[in-house]
Amino acid sequence: MPTSAGEAVAVPVGWRVMSTLGTLGAGHIGSTVARLALEAGYDVVLSNSRGPDTLRDLVTDLGPRARAGTAQEAAAADLVLVTVPFARYRDLDPDLLSGRVVLDTMNYYPERDGRVPELDEHRTTTSAMLQQHAPGARVVKTFSGIRWDHLGDLAQPSGAEDRSTLLVAGDDAEAKERAASFLDAIGYDALDAGSLAESWRFENGQPAYTAAYVRDGQTGRVVGEVEGVPADAARLRDLLGRADRGLVLP
Ligand SMILES: NC(=O)c1ccc[n+]([C@@H]2O[C@H](COP(=O)([O-])OP(=O)(O)OC[C@H]3O[C@@H](n4cnc5c(N)ncnc54)[C@H](OP(=O)(O)O)[C@@H]3O)[C@@H](O)[C@H]2O)c1
Repeated sequence: MPTSAGEAVAVPVGWRVMSTLGTLGAGHIGSTVARLALEAGYDVVLSNSRGPDTLRDLVTDLGPRARAGTAQEAAAADLVLVTVPFARYRDLDPDLLSGRVVLDTMNYYPERDGRVPELDEHRTTTSAMLQQHAPGARVVKTFSGIRWDHLGDLAQPSGAEDRSTLLVAGDDAEAKERAASFLDAIGYDALDAGSLAESWRFENGQPAYTAAYVRDGQTGRVVGEVEGVPADAARLRDLLGRADRGLVLP
């Protein structure tokens, strides 16, 4: 059942046909999502820019159901995680992403990625830019608004009282449901944050950006060693409601 912004994304009953996750990028977020997916019974193919050999230690650490592959091998998985520095998304071959449900974790950090005028001028969003680069991809923005350490720490089984919610945004309702199904399997509920055009509401610099998962009172980017705390849908709705495109990135 398609959802609208502000609604929980339901997980269709019995819809657990996806069994492999591929990652383009295998750093903090890529390896954390990989670990959660492996714990949930997925097979995982990780890739990076330097080639599978450079991921040998990581896949050994992750265990026998993880393997390192090429971008082509990773992108052939049921679900594809795009988790590279934002400035690098144009390096990814759009053909590999065509027809794939793509979970986009990327954030724009001008100090790392360089200035991007269309983002600074609020003409688009980071995920809409990925979608434009790979028109055949079924892009869903998620994982981008939680820090990797909190993501690893806060996963809880379905129904747990202290289960956290992650935001999902996208233009393809079924892809969003597939993303929600994956999130459910790895330990999170999903809240619909609207379309890719609306996904600026949890981009870097917005109140809902990473601060949902620390003690109430802080909004915006979380830095330093801060304990992660669970955040439910109500907390995320509240922070999303405080989104303001006039906020300026440092
Ligand atoms: N860190 C967080 O807490 C966090 C939270 C939410 C979202 N994010 C966002 O998620 C993305 C990844 O963040 P991260 O912290 O995981 O970064 P990271 O630790 O620096 O890892 C980046 C990964 O991307 C790979 N990579 C770089 N260029 C590539 C390319 N052209 N093709 C394929 N792989 C490439 C790197 O591999 P090589 O070393 O081989 O280049 C590395 O495995 C960023 O956009 C970030 O803003 C991060």
